[in-house]
Amino acid sequence: MDRVSPAARRPEARRSTVVSLFEHAARRAAGSRGAAQAQAPLAARGSVRTLAVTSGKGGVGKTVVTANLAVALARRGLRVLLIDADLGLANVDTLFGLQPRATLRQVVAGDCTLEDVVLEGPAGIAVVPASSGFADMARLADPSVAWLVDRLGDFARGFDVALVDTAAGISPAVLDFVRAADEKLVVVTPEPTSLTDAYAMIKVLATRHGERGVDVLVNQARSEPEAARSYAQLRAVSERFLALAPRLCGVLPYDPEVREAIRRQQPLFALAPRAPMSLALDALSKALVERWRHAMQDPGAGAQERRR
Ligand SMILES: Nc1ncnc2c1ncn2[C@@H]1O[C@H](COP(=O)(O)OP(=O)(O)OP(=O)(O)O)[C@@H](O)[C@H]1O
Ligand SMILES: [Mg+2]
Repeated sequence: MDRVSPAARRPEARRSTVVSLFEHAARRAAGSRGAAQAQAPLAARGSVRTLAVTSGKGGVGKTVVTANLAVALARRGLRVLLIDADLGLANVDTLFGLQPRATLRQVVAGDCTLEDVVLEGPAGIAVVPASSGFADMARLADPSVAWLVDRLGDFARGFDVALVDTAAGISPAVLDFVRAADEKLVVVTPEPTSLTDAYAMIKVLATRHGERGVDVLVNQARSEPEAARSYAQLRAVSERFLALAPRLCGVLPYDPEVREAIRRQQPLFALAPRAPMSLALDALSKALVERWRHAMQDPGAGAQERRR
């Protein structure tokens, strides 16, 4: 698809409808959570945190981590939006056994709106599904990507947090989604190829786009020392060649229950709430919420941390 979506030519036309309908979806999502889990939302209104999950190398666990982290955050009482931004090979909906009525492809074509495609997922998360196997979406032209990023940004405002699952690699579309997010999380595994590709992503973000505040999440770690070594290698090479130190955001273990949850198309928390990966994701969600609360109370502190 090499044209700007028709809707892009009238950018304000649907904005108020999108925001109000989406707020409705958010309220419904919040209402479906159990009372025991409900807590005060992160912020009263209008301060959504956006977090893009990316990698460099494919198959490291971005989708599994993003989707299950979305559930973990919803279980903490947050209103969560999960956006599938792997435009060519989307699979967030498959992961949770959801049946999309339509996807971002129809939104880009101008055939429907974001509120038409949003689905209710586990724990009341709102899911924006994308399409899989359409070359036009995999090669979406820059203006259409920019338009989509913009619309999704508007759309996210009725939520506490929006998680964006990107495709692998350093394509312009991936970089656009990553750059638009408040926080950029680069998933790595301890494999050397994953680390070199993650470095490539960090390098492009820093040198081409001036983005220096990147977090690293080590996934599929077989041990703490192995994860620490992987992060140390990535940090050392980033410090040496880019003069920046990505933060370690967390370590997630290799856990066979992950495959089983995917096979059953269930969130990991539903299948194995006490599995090591569930506990680690829950801890990660807690750490992120604390970080966001801190950043909102003292915005200067967040900026200082990012400059480190
Ligand atoms: N912590 C984990 N423990 C065990 N297996 C895992 C873990 N994380 C991911 N996997 C395995 O890795 C596979 C790939 O995961 P996923 O699809 O989330 O990767 P991805 O980075 O999104 O891939 P792509 O780049 O193709 O989008 C999963 O099917 C699962 O089998
Ligand atoms: Mg994926």
